[in-house]
Amino acid sequence: MTETLDITITKVAKSRLAETDFNNLPFGRTFSDHMFVADYADGEWKNFQIVPYGEIGLSPAISALHYGQSFFEGLKAYKHVDGKVSVFRPYMNAARFNKSAERLCMPELPEDIFVQSIAALVDLDKDWIPAKPNHSLYIRPFMFAIDPYLGVAPSKTYKYMVICGPTGPYFSKPLRVKIETHYSRAVEGGFGYAKAAGNYGGAMLPLKKAVEEGYDQLIWTDGKEHAYMEELGAANVMFLLDGKLITPSTRDTILKGVTRDTVLTLAREWGYTVEERRVSIAEVLEGAKNGKLTDAFGAGTAATIAPIGEIEHGGNLYTLPDPSQREFSKKVLKTLDEIRYGVTADPYGWNYMV
Ligand code: PLP
Ligand code: COI
Repeated sequence: MTETLDITITKVAKSRLAETDFNNLPFGRTFSDHMFVADYADGEWKNFQIVPYGEIGLSPAISALHYGQSFFEGLKAYKHVDGKVSVFRPYMNAARFNKSAERLCMPELPEDIFVQSIAALVDLDKDWIPAKPNHSLYIRPFMFAIDPYLGVAPSKTYKYMVICGPTGPYFSKPLRVKIETHYSRAVEGGFGYAKAAGNYGGAMLPLKKAVEEGYDQLIWTDGKEHAYMEELGAANVMFLLDGKLITPSTRDTILKGVTRDTVLTLAREWGYTVEERRVSIAEVLEGAKNGKLTDAFGAGTAATIAPIGEIEHGGNLYTLPDPSQREFSKKVLKTLDEIRYGVTADPYGWNYMV
């Protein structure tokens, strides 16, 4: 652990808490009172500040806007049943933050600065953490290039910021997903494994088309053959096939999810056979037809454990077992919630106490 981060804190004159409707918290629309900001210049991170949440002034020439030197993370803080506050596995996100930075030619942020910036902000805004089931404080750290220079080259200056806000789950009902066999989100040698802003922008048109056709999400497939499953647009994907937990192995094209790792750890602990390998569309659909596919879900921070209710492929719609009767995904969600809300012990040390 490095020494404690020296943060200058400017608090809001008046909190917006009283005027926030905690009974209506769609994902990503409500922000807490404060945000964290730091600057990178002359080869180092400096000016660590917490200031009132609000607009920031920037040059219109910044490389983040023109060439996509921009990426983010997503993690959550929970209010425990005894009132304590924790953040879920923040060092995993810190490590992934730096993998994204490296791929986009952006500076590394020491993991302790990442975690301490989040802990300080969450501590100051802890009254914004909803104390109700399925709710949490969503934390969005991000970094972007701010050189006012239109040449295509890595910027020399950057901002690192953290904003957060109270939220319920990203998806409110079992997902109707379409297996995408035309567009690609990522290809080998690309940067699908990074949480780059551009990955999400490029996914919007295919998703918009799928939503127009009546689907909630896409399952992305490999860019070469469109024969193997990769991930959902905002979560990793998992299947319980013939009693085994099966998920695509991570590679260049797939984000290595924190929730993914968490679910696989629990499944192994519970004695399930876990297979991280290429997962073909054919085997999953065969399982849907012959009844061996008993569970399918997205796993992600915002998504939590999001059951897949129906899968479309090649004009055929496959209805999967009733999500309310599924043993595995229900047990995972319950166990995760019990750990995150401090109902049971945290044997894996996943809760970072604030
Ligand atoms: N895949 C993508 C593309 C995502 O955006 C996310 C969300 O962060 C995930 C997977 C799941 O990752 P995690 O569990 O770390 O949130
Ligand atoms: C997250 O789960 O933190 C994400 O980043 C998903 C987001 C794109 C909604």
